[in-house]
Amino acid sequence: MRALNISIVGATGAVGAELIRLLEVSRIPVNRLRLLASHNSAGRQVRFRDQICFVEALDQIGDLETDIAFLCAGSALSAEWGPRFAAQGALVIDNSSTFRMNPDVLLVVPQVNPSVLSDRPRRGIVANPNCSTIQLVRALRPLATALDVYQIIVTTYQAASGVGRMGIDELRNGTRAALEGSPAPPAARFPVPLPFNVIPQVGDIDSEGVTLEELKLAQEARKILAMPDLRLTSTCVRVPVENGHSEAVYIEFEKPVRLEQIHELLAKEAGVRLYADGIRDGYPTPRFLANPEDVHVGRVRVNPENPRGLWLWVVADNLQVGAALNALLIAQLAIANSVIGEK
Ligand SMILES: NC(=O)c1ccc[n+]([C@@H]2O[C@H](COP(=O)([O-])OP(=O)(O)OC[C@H]3O[C@@H](n4cnc5c(N)ncnc54)[C@H](OP(=O)(O)O)[C@@H]3O)[C@@H](O)[C@H]2O)c1
Repeated sequence: MRALNISIVGATGAVGAELIRLLEVSRIPVNRLRLLASHNSAGRQVRFRDQICFVEALDQIGDLETDIAFLCAGSALSAEWGPRFAAQGALVIDNSSTFRMNPDVLLVVPQVNPSVLSDRPRRGIVANPNCSTIQLVRALRPLATALDVYQIIVTTYQAASGVGRMGIDELRNGTRAALEGSPAPPAARFPVPLPFNVIPQVGDIDSEGVTLEELKLAQEARKILAMPDLRLTSTCVRVPVENGHSEAVYIEFEKPVRLEQIHELLAKEAGVRLYADGIRDGYPTPRFLANPEDVHVGRVRVNPENPRGLWLWVVADNLQVGAALNALLIAQLAIANSVIGEK
């Protein structure tokens, strides 16, 4: 296939930087890589393969022609620029929540619902799901496909990097200040200071007391798994971890399950790393994740008080599995299905 023109909007952010890194080592042939961000970053240099790329200010670019536009700069910019790139023929892969629940827009996790991306999507836009959704559905897929699920209850433990570069800085600076005995800097990216704290709120809270993140987790999982009636409820929590989201997932099935059967289903799922024996294999933790391109599943156990109930501990790198890698895999799937790159 011919080499592609690729644009990354939000190239200097946490997700954008990870995407550049993954694209560099991927097999996607790149003709021109265009890195776009705000005025503050214009002129910055980034090495990509054998080229030096200069970051450009998004609102200064003249032509929008590109084969793929990855949008990683937040909802407002996605809403404005997604349709504009798509109108110029690009396949837009959007990391924000802007289009995810739009019935005309595909929401894709290539390991879970690849078949939905067989043709160019009507609006030219594919949505990348929320970070906590991606790791959840990748762990759920083999179980929900083989067994009837009654309900799912999730508690998330989400890292500071989930709100981007400034979230990481706020955690680091606040932690340093606390250790030095200085007054806590005011919280900007989190509802209250995150260092040495745990915050039971990720996103705005609606009139029913549910946060945006909790809503997204349920709605997006139903769409990706094509299970519109799935009962899924969660509490999403921010924890003072720099990177890597963890989830305690309780799945209640319609019928009793056996641990060996669950192990077998998870062990053969590509891209899922199973820690089958908690004593011998240990369990995954976000700080020490070997193979950050995988979804890590440990603490697998049947509820001793209800043989229909199963607990999982699911950990993944939110910037990689939960954002940049999924976006890149969507691009690779689109290329393989000739959705782009053959004009
Ligand atoms: N972080 C995660 O784990 C995660 C996971 C899934 C999805 N997402 C989504 O991915 C997107 C990016 O998140 P992030 O965590 O990478 O955020 P981030 O670290 O805050 O990066 C934001 C990026 O947007 C750029 N930007 C800001 N204002 C701009 C403007 N007016 N014009 C052009 N570019 C502008 C920034 O450029 P400057 O450097 O010039 O300011 C930066 O490159 C968001 O939609 C987020 O919801 C994030």
